[in-house]
Amino acid sequence: MIIQPAKTIRGRLLMAGDKSISHRAAMIAALAKGTTRISNFSSSADCAATLSCLAKLGVSIEHHGDELSVHGGGADGLRAPRGPLDCANSGTTMRLLAGILAGQNFQATLTGDESLRLRPMKRIIEPLREMGAKISSHDARAPLVIDGHRPLQAISYDLRVASAQVKSCIMLAGLNAEGRTEVVEHNATRDHTERMLRWLGVPLEVSNAEGSCSVAVDGPASFNAREVSVPGDISSAAYFIGAAALLPGSSLEIANVGVNPTRVAFINQLRSSGFPVAVSDVREECNEPVGTIRVSGAKSSPTPNSPVTLRGALIPQLIDELPLLAVVGSQIEGGIEIRNAAELRAKESDRIAASVQNLRAMGAKVEEFEDGWRVSGPTQLRGAEIDPRGDHRIAMAFAVAGLIAEGETEIKGAECVAVSFPEFFELLGSVVE
Ligand code: S3P
Repeated sequence: MIIQPAKTIRGRLLMAGDKSISHRAAMIAALAKGTTRISNFSSSADCAATLSCLAKLGVSIEHHGDELSVHGGGADGLRAPRGPLDCANSGTTMRLLAGILAGQNFQATLTGDESLRLRPMKRIIEPLREMGAKISSHDARAPLVIDGHRPLQAISYDLRVASAQVKSCIMLAGLNAEGRTEVVEHNATRDHTERMLRWLGVPLEVSNAEGSCSVAVDGPASFNAREVSVPGDISSAAYFIGAAALLPGSSLEIANVGVNPTRVAFINQLRSSGFPVAVSDVREECNEPVGTIRVSGAKSSPTPNSPVTLRGALIPQLIDELPLLAVVGSQIEGGIEIRNAAELRAKESDRIAASVQNLRAMGAKVEEFEDGWRVSGPTQLRGAEIDPRGDHRIAMAFAVAGLIAEGETEIKGAECVAVSFPEFFELLGSVVE
């Protein structure tokens, strides 16, 4: 894909359904009793992988455009699959489904593409084994062969990695455990599983203590279907918001987008760096906050009050937006430093190495650390050949960089954007001037 420098971004957009919420809606609906209609379901390849795994587990799903009907059979509704369940590139599919499969009375194998088979699974294997599931793996990597056990043993688990996928995996396993399963987290991560379970009537207990937060679910849990509407994907919207903020004279509105507090740190960060971004018309839909985001382009490079350093508890809240923030940081006075983000090395690609390599290719001055990087700014980026390493978020972050660069940028293997956002380039073409 060739990206030409842009003057402005102008228009109104709607995003397809949030990927994280869509995964949860489909999986939890499959465990409910009755038919759940899900509207504005994600168009991502990742969520398609979740649906195909659920179908192989015997769940009947009807598609009508972006609306789904999931016929859930309750706690006993899943059947042993005939072959391996292919999670493709999707870590969320693999880790959340593992939690569900741990509490079934059958064996199933979870596998995925080359990138997913390299990603760390010890973080879910350990708690699920503690709960009574038998899991074999290739050196703590997929394929994972899960011999479920019912009921599982309820546990209290201290999350060592700040990961919503691990938290969700344990909570979903907790639905098939005897007694109270509790997860304690020290840095808050996205809470869509908690919100979706509550929406479907599963009682949860959340308690906040100094420096930690715990969520508990009582099993075995049984619950009924309920209609779900998925808000627009804020992590997809982020690329348009970032591009509009960086291009003076831009004006962009994105309505019906999720503004869950655990997902908006990117917007707060843009605002505190001096970019005009506003969130309005916030309402709750299906237990998730939804609103409208308006952005206008900065007149000149913003000068934040103090050097921008992102670290600590903030990192899990903008984990998917960090490569994009690095691009934005290259345009602000003083640049940006990102630390405590070693988790990025275990994403769809090593996102630290990929961000550093591609920023350098575009002429930015970058220092790499084991747990992050520092980019100097403001820098006039130069068009370059970008290698996104098959990673959708790197491809989209550097498409934004291409819009503000001098000269042409080529994104190699750009079709990888379909993992989260198949319409990305088409929508971009519709708002770029
Ligand atoms: C996700 C959680 C995050 C995020 C991923 C989606 C989720 O991963 O990076 O894109 O839906 O729970 P971790 O929880 O592993 O950090």
